Amino acid sequence: MPALSNLCGNAPTVYNDENFHAAATSRAEGGIVVEYRTFRNTDTPHLVAVWNETFTQRGAARLANNTTFERYVLCKPIFDPKGLFVAVQDGEVAGWAHAAMSLNPFNSQSVGVTCLIGVRPALRGQGIGGELLNRCEGYLREKGAGILQTGGHWPNNPFYMGLYGGCESPGILQSDGLAEPFLVKRGYRVEQKITVLHRKLDQPMKMFDPRFVPMRSRYDLQFGSPRRLLSSWHELVHGNVDPLQFVLLDKQTRTWVAHTLVWEMDAFSHTWQRPTVGIFDFEVNTPARGTGVGRYFLSLIMKYIQEQFFTLVEIQLEETNVAGLDFLKSLDFENVDTGQVFVRNV
Ligand SMILES: CC(C)(COP(=O)(O)OP(=O)(O)OC[C@H]1O[C@@H](n2cnc3c(N)ncnc32)[C@H](O)[C@@H]1OP(=O)(O)O)[C@@H](O)C(=O)NCCC(=O)NCCS
Repeated sequence: MPALSNLCGNAPTVYNDENFHAAATSRAEGGIVVEYRTFRNTDTPHLVAVWNETFTQRGAARLANNTTFERYVLCKPIFDPKGLFVAVQDGEVAGWAHAAMSLNPFNSQSVGVTCLIGVRPALRGQGIGGELLNRCEGYLREKGAGILQTGGHWPNNPFYMGLYGGCESPGILQSDGLAEPFLVKRGYRVEQKITVLHRKLDQPMKMFDPRFVPMRSRYDLQFGSPRRLLSSWHELVHGNVDPLQFVLLDKQTRTWVAHTLVWEMDAFSHTWQRPTVGIFDFEVNTPARGTGVGRYFLSLIMKYIQEQFFTLVEIQLEETNVAGLDFLKSLDFENVDTGQVFVRNV
């Protein structure tokens, strides 16, 4: 299990000279003095408390304890305490924001991501969120970011997969309604939109399609833990959620016809009070497309998941993927939210 001791290799984790000097105060509206500094090890329970007070909309998991936050955020080898900014007022954490560089090896320009910003409701509207964002941007510029992004989305989602956004990182959800005006005012534009879709499994699934009949004898469904994910960056982003790989194999040729990753969204299941499974990286091999294989494969997976007593499945798709959205709607998936990726020039 993740533990605080896992942090030791990462960076300074206790109050030290460096982050003492990094601390600075500013006077918010109404003369309130706010101190800004970077992460200290003792902050964790306070960050968790602010999270639960701040991220209260549908797309954020409620954190039952520090361990979940440690597992998904602090224990990652890429965690840099200097990228997590904390605002303190009267000795209490008022808000925090987390910035990190995307280490996706295929980016043509380096992308710096402000993953999340949260300010306690009672202390909003005093400039704290704006100052936290400034600090994140300053950190990312220093790290050489060529593009500033807010809200993680694959492949630029270093943190919060598993805790925020659902089965993948869709940027910042529209259900977090304060984010868009806040970011647009500060020079960001919406670069991408991602549709979040749900399918309830505690209702009948009528999925018969005559094209499935020959497929039953031709294809084999296999699943298991993937020996490794696609790349080390894929491991860093998605490894934490421990996905299972489902593969549809052609029995004769032993080649893959379709594959996907599936994971149990445990933190969201607790929050939504529904055992939920997330599906991502769903792909039908090019020669098999347009033959009903995708529908067959997804039906088999949903049937399997349903038999394990899961009652909800989530998939996310780019808003521009019209064919994919039509495909999912034909399987009774419903649009429940939209994620937005915000970018601005450095
Ligand atoms: C979005 C969020 C982080 C903003 O935090 P905040 O502390 O209220 O942000 P600010 O005070 O800097 O700015 C908000 C408004 O306060 C007002 N404000 C009041 N006093 C101010 C001051 N002294 N300086 C600057 N703005 C001030 C401004 O009018 C500003 O409005 P604007 O965006 O139209 O300029 C906060 O609402 C929040 O935590 N929301 C829930 C979580 C969330 O959605 N997070 C996603 C964001 S990535």
